[in-house]
Amino acid sequence: MKGIKIVATGKYLPRNIVSNNDFSEIVETSDEWISQRTGMKNRHLTSGEPTWLMGALAAKDALASGGIDPKEIDLILMTSVTADYMTPSAACIIQANIGAQNAICMDVNAACSGFVYALDMARRYLNFEDIRRVLIVSSETLSKITDYTDRASCVLFGDAAGACVVEAADSMFSSDLGADGTKAQLLYCKNPLKMNNPFMKPELVPEYEEIIHAETDYLYMDGREVYKFAIKAMPKAIEAACQKAGIQVQDIDLIIPHQANIRIVETAAKTLGVPMEKMYVNLEKYGNTSSACIPMCLDEISKNGLLKRGQTVAVVGFGAGVTYAAAVFKW
Ligand code: ACO
Repeated sequence: MKGIKIVATGKYLPRNIVSNNDFSEIVETSDEWISQRTGMKNRHLTSGEPTWLMGALAAKDALASGGIDPKEIDLILMTSVTADYMTPSAACIIQANIGAQNAICMDVNAACSGFVYALDMARRYLNFEDIRRVLIVSSETLSKITDYTDRASCVLFGDAAGACVVEAADSMFSSDLGADGTKAQLLYCKNPLKMNNPFMKPELVPEYEEIIHAETDYLYMDGREVYKFAIKAMPKAIEAACQKAGIQVQDIDLIIPHQANIRIVETAAKTLGVPMEKMYVNLEKYGNTSSACIPMCLDEISKNGLLKRGQTVAVVGFGAGVTYAAAVFKW
């Protein structure tokens, strides 16, 4: 199978910047606690821009930076946990907005692992001749599902969108993806729409009463358990992807991890035996933007020329599901 090449990147960041000190005005917290426990300083929050619009703007930025005609996109993979519509897919809405009428479209929900899942899917599609160019768009308005009375989770999240265009290349690509649905309760947000058909008879399914009445309007997170999962899953996935590629972890020039917490990144680096200089971190500026974190990093790396063609990159995410995913490829 062929590998992939990222040929263009883009992003969209809402203009409203919210600092740690701003949070201390709404919940019992402090800049010191948030900085020390998470590494975060600021995050950007939407002022009403919907998820699809942020995604479309990131996609336009990527297409413009690569000089790519939207009609040359064959597939749009959109990743999000905060899509505006249950149907149609956000990918379809973005397709119309950017004028990519030749693309087939679908959404991928693998939470914060979404971008890496989509990259792996893109690579598989690109190995068929009729798909030559894939646009991955990762857009998240986590502020929509954040409980701003829960200090343990609300300080963590930001809104953002990242995008990239991917083509096939005769180069190495290796991935390791996984999921463990038995841990779904660690991190979830119920769809706020209620089952409400006019013929409902809950008395017919008494054994499911507890499930039927379980309600959560906002994101629920068991932070400590997610932390424990993340510090094991990220290094394991990178090691597995390297092993499949026949390379050593030390051969990787830059690792782009999900930007959930600086302590998670530091622990993963230690487990892998790589210095922190090889871990790309920007969470102090944007917080955790779920599946948008990694393509946002890729855009910074690309636009700042931080990698040369041919260098080895790893991307690694973890998130609700629970899911994890790593990919190793050539820049
Ligand atoms: N300000 C001040 N105190 C706080 C805050 C806050 N914002 N949040 C929690 N605390 C308090 C707690 O109440 C607790 O107080 P107590 O000891 O009196 O009970 C104390 O700080 C320690 O709480 P812990 O939960 O043990 O803090 P921890 O060091 O584990 O940090 C955190 C919490 C930041 C949530 C950490 O567990 C973490 O990062 N977990 C992973 C979260 C994550 O990655 N989530 C997203 C993954 S998926 C996605 O991206 C959507």
